Amino acid sequence: MTHATSETATAIMRANDRGGYTVPTAGLYPYQWNWDSAFAALGFAAFDRDRAWRELETIFEGQWADGMAPHIIFRNHDPSYFPGPDIWGSNTEPPSSGHSQPPVVAIVARWLVETGDREDLRRAHALFPKLMAWHGWWHRERDPGETGLVAIIHPWESGRDNCPDWDAGMDRITIPDDLGAYHRRDTDWVAADQRPTHETYDRYLTMVKFGRECGWDHKRIYRDGPFLMADPCVQFVLMRADRDLAVLAERFEDDAARRTIADWIARDIEGAQALWNDAAGGFVAREMRTGALVDAITNASMLAFFGGAGTRAQQAELADQARQILDLCRFGFPSWDPRRPGFEQRRYWRGPVWSVMNWMIAGGLDGAGHADLAARIRHDTRALVRQSGFFEYFDPLTGDGLGGPDFTWTAAIDLALEHEFGTAAAA
Ligand code: DGY
Repeated sequence: MTHATSETATAIMRANDRGGYTVPTAGLYPYQWNWDSAFAALGFAAFDRDRAWRELETIFEGQWADGMAPHIIFRNHDPSYFPGPDIWGSNTEPPSSGHSQPPVVAIVARWLVETGDREDLRRAHALFPKLMAWHGWWHRERDPGETGLVAIIHPWESGRDNCPDWDAGMDRITIPDDLGAYHRRDTDWVAADQRPTHETYDRYLTMVKFGRECGWDHKRIYRDGPFLMADPCVQFVLMRADRDLAVLAERFEDDAARRTIADWIARDIEGAQALWNDAAGGFVAREMRTGALVDAITNASMLAFFGGAGTRAQQAELADQARQILDLCRFGFPSWDPRRPGFEQRRYWRGPVWSVMNWMIAGGLDGAGHADLAARIRHDTRALVRQSGFFEYFDPLTGDGLGGPDFTWTAAIDLALEHEFGTAAAA
């Protein structure tokens, strides 16, 4: 058994370092992933602040002209991963995927500034216009009607790829006859019962095919694409990241940016209400074409505290739901409510626990005055790696380690918890 120590966590991060950026884990994910890198920076901050900033900066080496920071940057050809750059067909340099991932970077950048010195401020200042462009892209391309509710065009854009949240949107997808044969590589690395099914992959690739064939025209994809849902994780992370960007704008005395961000935040707050489901007692995913709300609580619902979303009554209801769900699990916080149909304790995002989600949830709960719940979740996060090692995700009922081993973001969060890296309150 791997023992969870700072030395092991640091060694994993060093081993996954490809020079300026880390891979999430060798083999299964051999490229740079956007939000993985943002969390990796938090881990690097425990032993090498310069390297932490490099990790954030390299994310923007793949930034598109329209501001989007893509979810994968393909720097070296590595056939151990599918779908690679040829399937995405985005024609960018460096090659990248065609959509984004939850915008965590500003949250980590603000934290580095607030715990650092003039050098941190200088690095943040250099990154600031790129962050503004990326946040602007989210607000423009993923919310063209300016409602305050941002959508995603692929479950991979949520980072919570295989959550039952997406079933409603996935069920609407017709798999085209000319999708073609392909060879999945993920199940070469991880047992099939811990990964998405083949039917799910056909749908993932149908969405990529649509994007590629329209030249990743995001207006067209939003309007006519095969999948459009709103995700509490993206909504609340963006909300939180907008608030943290506002703090940076204040530090840089950038009045124009301050006004723009204030408008975004006002809209975020209003848009978030479209995710509230009274019957479920929480914020949930929403199918955008029909307006249908998913009827279950997830770990993404619990990010409302982190984003600073919801009324006092809504937050009280959510905290109550959190207690009920935690009572059912040996380790919190599960990625799908165990009381609901569809819960699978070992399958990717259909039940397992994720360190990065826990770190954000605990930070939000602390800021909202639920220190007991935050402490329970932080405790579980560290206990899981002590029991099972630095896996990608964990079984909430047994604590078994699942998915890829020696995972960068699990190591990074363990270091962050060891050093008590938290976030300031959201509002
Ligand atoms: C995968 O291939 O499963 C990745 O999570 C997509 O981002």
